[in-house]
Amino acid sequence: PQSPPSSSSALPPPSVALTQDELKRIAAYKAVEYVRSGMVLGLGTGSTARHAVDRIAELLRRGELSGIVGVPTSTQTHQQALALGIPLSDLDAHPSLDLAIDGADEVDSHLNLVKGRGGSLLREKMVEGVCKKFVVIVDESKLVPYLGGSGLAMPVEVVPFCWKFTAGRLRQLFEDAGCTAKLRTFPETEKPFVTDNGNYIVDLYFKKDIGDLKVASDAILRLAGVVEHGMFLDMATTVIVAGKLGVEVLDK
Ligand code: 5RP
Repeated sequence: PQSPPSSSSALPPPSVALTQDELKRIAAYKAVEYVRSGMVLGLGTGSTARHAVDRIAELLRRGELSGIVGVPTSTQTHQQALALGIPLSDLDAHPSLDLAIDGADEVDSHLNLVKGRGGSLLREKMVEGVCKKFVVIVDESKLVPYLGGSGLAMPVEVVPFCWKFTAGRLRQLFEDAGCTAKLRTFPETEKPFVTDNGNYIVDLYFKKDIGDLKVASDAILRLAGVVEHGMFLDMATTVIVAGKLGVEVLDK
């Protein structure tokens, strides 16, 4: 079968106003066009990736796909895929994947991403770091001039031990960018959000551009107490953006 377009392409604009969730579904369905029978697939996490997992299960049921093995990036996706009957595995058994499909919180013009506002960044980075193709699916609200530029969180997964100390060191790293660091908690209980790996998330907020992303990434990862951060640099091979005027496919 033919591959989907490998360069930028715009579909005709939809005739009716679509909701954000419908845009997410359109991007997800477009990404699933890259899936071929027999592939080992990274299954992303979040409200956009959920549509892709649903679609893969639907095509398996209809017999239009077969021999798929899914590697979930969170317990949430694991449960969804299991309930839908998608055969599952993990990185221990499949250390290299054909394709991963996942959402993102921010996408810059170089296809660098912020991920992890759903809390699954570590498993996502492990899985998506070893796939031959990584297709990111977003609605147009996720496009930003620079990472951190949406004013929303840049998540960092930290060990619970002395998390305040680690949050303080993270804030200090980005003092010049007007950084604030906040432990992610459940609004109702104020209890810390705990990741699938038993860690906490410190969300960083910036008033200004943090500058060189590789330098920022290395500095964060050098801090003892940090497990991983939500910047996914140079990982996406394709970003599918669904917007009011159609779908755009951005290739690296
Ligand atoms: C989860 C993620 C998600 O991919 C990201 O938060 C986007 O989520 P959504 O598709 O719900 O907007 O990184 O940790």
